Amino acid sequence: MVNDKKKEGINIIPLGIGDPDLTTPDLIINELINQVKISENQNYPSSKGEQDFREAVQKWYDVRFNLKLDANDEVTNLIGGKEGVANIARVFVNPGDIVLCPNPGYPVYENGATKLCDGKIHTIPLLRENDFLPDFEVIESEILKKAKLMYLNYPNNPTGAIASKKFLKEAADNAEDYNFVIVYDNPYSEFTYEDYIAPSLLQIDQNHIEINSSSKMFCMTGFRCGWAVGDKDIISGLRKVKSHTDSGCPIFIQKAVVKGLNEYKSGEKPNIVRNNMKIYEKRRDVLVKGLNDIGWNTDKPKATLYVWTHIPEGETNSMEFIKKLINEGVVLTPGTGFGTYGEGFVRFALTQPIDKIKEALERIEKILN
Ligand SMILES: Cc1ncc(COP(=O)(O)O)c(C=O)c1O
Repeated sequence: MVNDKKKEGINIIPLGIGDPDLTTPDLIINELINQVKISENQNYPSSKGEQDFREAVQKWYDVRFNLKLDANDEVTNLIGGKEGVANIARVFVNPGDIVLCPNPGYPVYENGATKLCDGKIHTIPLLRENDFLPDFEVIESEILKKAKLMYLNYPNNPTGAIASKKFLKEAADNAEDYNFVIVYDNPYSEFTYEDYIAPSLLQIDQNHIEINSSSKMFCMTGFRCGWAVGDKDIISGLRKVKSHTDSGCPIFIQKAVVKGLNEYKSGEKPNIVRNNMKIYEKRRDVLVKGLNDIGWNTDKPKATLYVWTHIPEGETNSMEFIKKLINEGVVLTPGTGFGTYGEGFVRFALTQPIDKIKEALERIEKILN
């Protein structure tokens, strides 16, 4: 539909895909240019990550979360977070094993991880009345007993929800009682607004695995560099799978990411992160105020690149509403793109400048009227 509209000459405002439009900080780009010229940085990397990369992640966890990790066996490199989210299932999930997958959720948990390992998806609904957090009380204990992995992701894509340390403790207690591993997918830990600071699951319990990456924090989605940290046996399993499937993220990219991570001197965001987040924060404010002004009640997220909102009154189906928007040249993601519990919702990505967001609001107002 979008292509047809483009052919008709309609100028499309894409607010669908969650890929930061702002550029990677110069400090990181300049480091990359210097590092790529060094001949040993052009060789095969080690799939577990270069020593200096693992030490930079270790230091980042210390200054950012006050967590002491061992760079030798509690940190490993990833070719972006997505790779770790998928490969961790190859470590643990045998055919028929249950994996607890939040819904709506990042589709890789169900597809790239559980299904490709012939695991069994157990859907964990994220409902608005529960602030888009799982309700452990309603999950049958037989299911929890059989579960191997649970994916959790806060700040959350697509809902923008956040999790308190109290909730993380409840999740970790359940994991301990029922003996499953939590894969805490934390790529939006730095994508936060105002004074909200996102926690790490490992601050509560280090017996799990946490995945993060440079993609969102440094606007580096195309560079493909991430990391997994946590329990050394889990990390060792992930390293085994990876050592037989990939040869790691290019050394010069790891070194550029080290430069970015080293900018953190405390739990506060350094300027290279804060400057971009201020821009996204302004866009969020304009979008959410604009939607409310035209009668579409929408909450302001405290984190992430997304605004997740119920379809306007009178609309009955996410996809049908998305089609109406495309007819006016505005592209959003239907909630159902993230699972059945996304029905009735749409996701805006804050990836356009303010003037485009305002133009999108004018077009949306026309539809609502
Ligand atoms: C929830 C979630 N997890 C993981 C990723 C993967 O990010 P990357 O592979 O770029 O680190 C994304 C990217 O959009 C995401 O939204």
